[in-house]
Amino acid sequence: MGKLRAITIATMPFADQRPGTSGLRKKVEIFKQPNYLENFVQSIFDSLEGFEGATFVLGGDGRYYNREAIQKILKIAAANGVGSIIVGQSGILSTPAVSALIRSLKAFGGIVLSASHNPGGPHGDFGVKYNVANGGPAPEKTTEAIYRRTLEITSYRVVETDDVDIDRIGETTIGDMRVAIVDSVANYQALMQTLFDFDRIRDAFRSGLTLKFDAMSAVTGPYARAIFEEELGARPGSVINATPLPDFGGHHPDPNLVYARHLYDLAMSDAAPDLCAASDGDGDRNLIIGRGRFVTPSDSLAILAANATIAPGYRKGVAGIARSMPTSGAADRVAAKLGVPLYETPTGWKYFGNLLDAGLVTICGEESAGAGSDHVREKDGLWAVLFWLDMLAARKESVDAIVRQHWTSYGRNYYSRHDYEEVASDGAHALIDALRDRLPTHEGKCFGGLEVAKADDFAYHDPVDGSDSLHQGLRVMFADGSRIVYRLSGTGTSGATLRVYIERYEPDPAQQYLETQSALADLIALSRELAAIERYTQRAAPSVIT
Ligand code: G1P
Ligand code: ZN
Repeated sequence: MGKLRAITIATMPFADQRPGTSGLRKKVEIFKQPNYLENFVQSIFDSLEGFEGATFVLGGDGRYYNREAIQKILKIAAANGVGSIIVGQSGILSTPAVSALIRSLKAFGGIVLSASHNPGGPHGDFGVKYNVANGGPAPEKTTEAIYRRTLEITSYRVVETDDVDIDRIGETTIGDMRVAIVDSVANYQALMQTLFDFDRIRDAFRSGLTLKFDAMSAVTGPYARAIFEEELGARPGSVINATPLPDFGGHHPDPNLVYARHLYDLAMSDAAPDLCAASDGDGDRNLIIGRGRFVTPSDSLAILAANATIAPGYRKGVAGIARSMPTSGAADRVAAKLGVPLYETPTGWKYFGNLLDAGLVTICGEESAGAGSDHVREKDGLWAVLFWLDMLAARKESVDAIVRQHWTSYGRNYYSRHDYEEVASDGAHALIDALRDRLPTHEGKCFGGLEVAKADDFAYHDPVDGSDSLHQGLRVMFADGSRIVYRLSGTGTSGATLRVYIERYEPDPAQQYLETQSALADLIALSRELAAIERYTQRAAPSVIT
C-alpha cells in the first residue's frame, strides 16, 4: 500500500470520559456522538509512552458498534505510530483471549471493546478498556492519565483510508502499521491445553459426561464450540447460543440466576446434564450449576483452590489465593488449610494484577462470577468451566458431591448479594455517606442478638506497589463471623446500584442445607434496617438477588 498521510482533526473534550472499574462504559448513543470514541482512543495513545513501532491487540465481544469501533481505532493507531495491531477475526476476541494474546505476543498493550455483561444493541451499552503489557486492565494511574487527557484534548490523528477487511485471516497495512487478522480462538485454546488434562476430559465425555454451555449469543460461542465440542468431544448441541450477535439476541448476557434462569431450571430438572455453565458478554465471567446444585462463585473459588493440584497447570500447588473484599470467606478457609496467604482486595480484577505478577497468588476470584489464575490477567469464564470439567473427570464425582464434601470439610459460608439497581444517585450516595458516619458507633453494639465486632470503610494497601485504595465498601462484621457489606457499583450506566452482600458461616454439617435466603433472613432484615435502605432509595426490596 502506498504512503498514507495522517491528518489531524480538531475536536473538543467531553466531560464524561472517566474510565470506571472496567474501562469507559456508556450507552451506544453516547459512543456514537461525533469524535467521542476518537477522543478517548487518542487520549489513550497520548497518555502512553514509548509505544511507537510496538504491537497492540484489538478485539471485542461482537456487540453493536464493535466493527465500526475497530475500523476507527485501526486508523487512529496507524496515525499515532503503532507498529502492528493484532485483531481477532471479525473483531471477535474475548477479554481473557485479549489478555492471553498480549502476553504471548509480548505486546505493548491491547484494547478490549466490551461492556461486559451489560446488554448490547443500538440502545444498549458499549465500552472501551485499555490493557497493559502484563495482559491486565490498566492501573489507576494510567486510567487517570487517560481521563485527564480527555479533558484537555483539542485534536486527534487519523489515517484516512478504506476500511480493513477484518473477516479474512491475513495481513495488510495501514500506512506503516501492520494489521494482522488472526484466528480468535487458537492462541487461547493452546493456552488452555497447557493447564488442563484434555485427554482426561475427552475420556469423560466419551464415557457419558454431559454439558450444557450457554454462550448467551455473546463472545464465547466460537471458543466453546471449538474447545468443548470439536476438541473435547462434548456432544453436538452442548454449546447453545453460540453465534455472537450484535444485540446478544436481545438477551442480557449476564450469567446469573436471573438472566440464565433457564439453565438453573434445566439443572434442577430430570433432564439435567452433569454440568450447566455459561459465560457473559465478553467471556470473563462464569456460571456453574451441577445437577441439582448451584455453586456460588465464592464457593467455586474455594473449591477450585482446594482441588487445584488436580489440574496439570497447578500441579505444583497454589502460592496464594486472592479474593475481592465482598467475596465470601470460603476461600480464606482453604488458604488457611493449605498454609498459603489469602489477600483481600477491593472489587475489580485490576487489584489482582500486582499480586499475580509478583507470584504472590495463583488463583483469584470475585463473588460476581469471576474466577481466574496467573495464566492471564483477567478473569476467565471458560477457564473456570474447564477447571470444573477437569475436576469432574478426575474425581469422577458429581458437582453436588464435590460441593457437599467441601462444606463438610471446611464449613459452609451462606452468601447472597442483594442489588438495588438504578436507584437515584443522590439517595444512594447519601445512604453510603450516612452509614459511613455511623459505622464507628455500631462497634460493640448488638442487633437482634448479633454483636458488631468491627465496622469500617474498607481500605486496601497494595503490598507490591505500596499504593492505597480508600473507600472500597462499608463492612459490618459480627462476632460470629457473619458480615454485611455495602458498596455502590462502579459499572452501571444509569443511576446508581447499591450492592449489599450478606454472609453467615455455618460449620455444622446438619445446618448446611437450608435455603440460602432463609438461612440469611435475620441478616437480610438487618441489612435493610442498618442502612435505612428504603428511606434512601425508596425501595423496600432489592431488584436482583443472587
Ligand atoms: C461488578 C462486580 C465486580 C466486577 C466488575 C467487572 O462491578 O461487582 O466484582 O469486577 O463488575 O466485571 P461493580 O458494578 O460492583 O462495580
Ligand atoms: Zn465480563
